[in-house]
Amino acid sequence: MFDLSGRSALVTGAGQNAGAGIARALAAQGASVVVNDLVAERAKTVSDEITASGGRAVPIAFDVTDPDAVRDGVGQARAEFGRHIDILVHNAGIPADFGQGQFRTLDPARWRGPVEINLFGAMHCLSAVLDEMCEAGWGRIVQISSGSARTGSDLGLSLYGAAKSGVEGFIRHISQEVGPFGVTVNTLALGLQTNAAGDATAAIAARIPTRRLGTPEDVGAAVVYLASAEASWMTGQTLNLNGGSVTT
Ligand SMILES: NC(=O)c1ccc[n+]([C@@H]2O[C@H](COP(=O)([O-])OP(=O)(O)OC[C@H]3O[C@@H](n4cnc5c(N)ncnc54)[C@H](O)[C@@H]3O)[C@@H](O)[C@H]2O)c1
Repeated sequence: MFDLSGRSALVTGAGQNAGAGIARALAAQGASVVVNDLVAERAKTVSDEITASGGRAVPIAFDVTDPDAVRDGVGQARAEFGRHIDILVHNAGIPADFGQGQFRTLDPARWRGPVEINLFGAMHCLSAVLDEMCEAGWGRIVQISSGSARTGSDLGLSLYGAAKSGVEGFIRHISQEVGPFGVTVNTLALGLQTNAAGDATAAIAARIPTRRLGTPEDVGAAVVYLASAEASWMTGQTLNLNGGSVTT
């Protein structure tokens, strides 16, 4: 089960943490993986690790907020692997200028960052890969989201939550459009991860039923399922992966 041999995957923001875990997991199942990141050295490090452990990977740095750069990156991937992208995981979602803070304190110049990377980033990436997936009659899109999309908090995440809500809605609609072509489109909504900074994380972990934060391996395993042939009847869904912290 979950054999991805012969498939080509693109993981955005894969230079560290959850994205790196996703890239490693897909490669371990046999996929050829494009390790994308804005920071070229990060992408290269993860790609080199995968190659050293016997997998197939290539680092391709681009900015998901730049539609031309995304198209060029996808073209480069096709040239490297001799195949179109079968699996897209849009994981990049935290901009350098995160825009975290109580909304009333945030300068309007910071409103765009979370929306650009999450919502427009998803649009650019899906636009660059969907035609070839539909023509091939097989494709997998996995969007990485957050519990912040559907649960309000006073942690200063209003812009981020708005962007994640937006992309979840976008993904639901796309699933309806491309389902007849054998392309599934799902969202994985993560709870707090081990790399999250902040004094509150230990207290949050203590309240999670599984008593721990999420790891890159947790995320990678869930993405492998969604990317697999076996998940062909799973589409249009938002799956929570959060240790039980939210149960709706
Ligand atoms: N960390 C958490 O606790 C947490 C919780 C819920 C959801 N998430 C989501 O999980 C995903 C991964 O989060 P993470 O904490 O591993 O992120 P991270 O910031 O640790 O790593 C993401 C990578 O994306 C890259 N990146 C940033 N902007 C980019 C761009 N424009 N184009 C290409 N790459 C870009 C960064 O260089 C970085 O290497 C995000 O979508 C995030 O919203 C994270």
